[in-house]
Amino acid sequence: MTVPPPASAPATPARPSPVPAARFARISGWGSYAPRAVLTNADLERMVDTNDDWIVTRTGIRERRVAAAHETTASMAAVAGARAIAVAGLEPDEIDLILVATLTPDYWMPSTAALVKEAIGNRRAAAMDVAAACSGFVYAYATAHAYVTSGMARHVLVVGAELLTRFLDYTDRSTCILFGDGAGAVVVSASDEPTGPHGIELTTEPQGAYMIWLPAGGSKSPSSAETVARGEHFIRMEGKETYRFATRTLASSALAAIERAGLHPDEIDLVIPHQANVRIIEAVAKGLGFPMDRIFVNVDRFGNTSAASVPLALAEAVDTGRIKLGDRIVFVAFGAGFTSGAVAMEWSADPASGARAAAIDPDAIRVRLPVDWDSVDPIPAQLADVLASPGPVDVPLDDVVPGEPARSHKEVPA
Ligand code: ACO
Repeated sequence: MTVPPPASAPATPARPSPVPAARFARISGWGSYAPRAVLTNADLERMVDTNDDWIVTRTGIRERRVAAAHETTASMAAVAGARAIAVAGLEPDEIDLILVATLTPDYWMPSTAALVKEAIGNRRAAAMDVAAACSGFVYAYATAHAYVTSGMARHVLVVGAELLTRFLDYTDRSTCILFGDGAGAVVVSASDEPTGPHGIELTTEPQGAYMIWLPAGGSKSPSSAETVARGEHFIRMEGKETYRFATRTLASSALAAIERAGLHPDEIDLVIPHQANVRIIEAVAKGLGFPMDRIFVNVDRFGNTSAASVPLALAEAVDTGRIKLGDRIVFVAFGAGFTSGAVAMEWSADPASGARAAAIDPDAIRVRLPVDWDSVDPIPAQLADVLASPGPVDVPLDDVVPGEPARSHKEVPA
């Protein structure tokens, strides 16, 4: 197979600059991307035996985004990542390490992070993926924090990105209503100044390994006509067990992170939980003794975007004024594994910097393909109609410029 050289390949790769020892780390940039097409509960009513009332009552989800055929996990990750780098006021080449948390990579290999590196125009970073399902962003953030505070990296790009709508069984009403596509990112940067209280908690409980899983395509059950016929390339989930784990672990992980930061729960201004289900989020609020106005929720508009959910919500919370300089925040997630993770921190970046994300045009960022290969049509047959006419969008996330008045509704042309 012949592969074209990257358009921007330098004659001599830039030499990594020395990284001084650093003891403090802070989030310096944030960004997100959500595809344009919307899959509503009404759309799902036409596919499976479900209804809007059941979905809203049991999950809080009203709609989710669906990636278009030209989009992939890497392309969405690259847009969110480029926005985070712009917000941090950095050039792509200043990033030393790129981490992409995802359970829906473009390929088994190479890593999605390697594709993101090229797409954002970085020539010198190390790049790798992090696999911890819906907790992936928190795990990747913790890794970035360790790299920066140990002095191994000065700026780390941490992305959570998922294209879940291509891994769902649209005959299984218990899973296909839950998930959506998107990406979010932060830049974790070294700081000479102390950056305030900070605590991390990560857990893995493998007795839950088969509660959320995707059976085939790995070494235990390689892809074959039989695995396809058995429907084993789709996400499977034991909803009730997962629900129980989530409600138990989210509050305990958040409290452990808060304690490690040396803080008291009363000092936390906002919690950004994994956006899986509004009932789970309400149970977390109850477990923490917090009113819902101290909990950020956008699951109604994006569904469960797995590793993308926390950074997508974090970026929206900063850009809509819910997080201010000096606020103490917690982000917390759970997912397949079972994994969970939480971070408590003081927000030390100027939210106004979010306006710089507008300089990044999603259409200008491309993930390179081999010249003599293309994929099959990646769109599940059941989603073809939705993608043919995306429908009304309520304030598209990738159009929001911080400080802009919120628009109520916008018609997206077919
Ligand atoms: N529409 C209508 N009815 C449905 C649907 C649907 N979409 N799905 C299930 N039902 C039915 C069931 O068949 C069942 O019917 P029955 O009583 O006649 O048998 C009834 O509704 C109740 O089903 P339950 O599974 O008991 O519903 P529950 O209240 O547990 O809600 C849900 C299901 C929403 C999936 C919930 O269990 C849940 O949110 N679990 C956690 C999911 C989650 O957070 N996953 C995160 C994944 S993280 C990661 O790493 C990927």
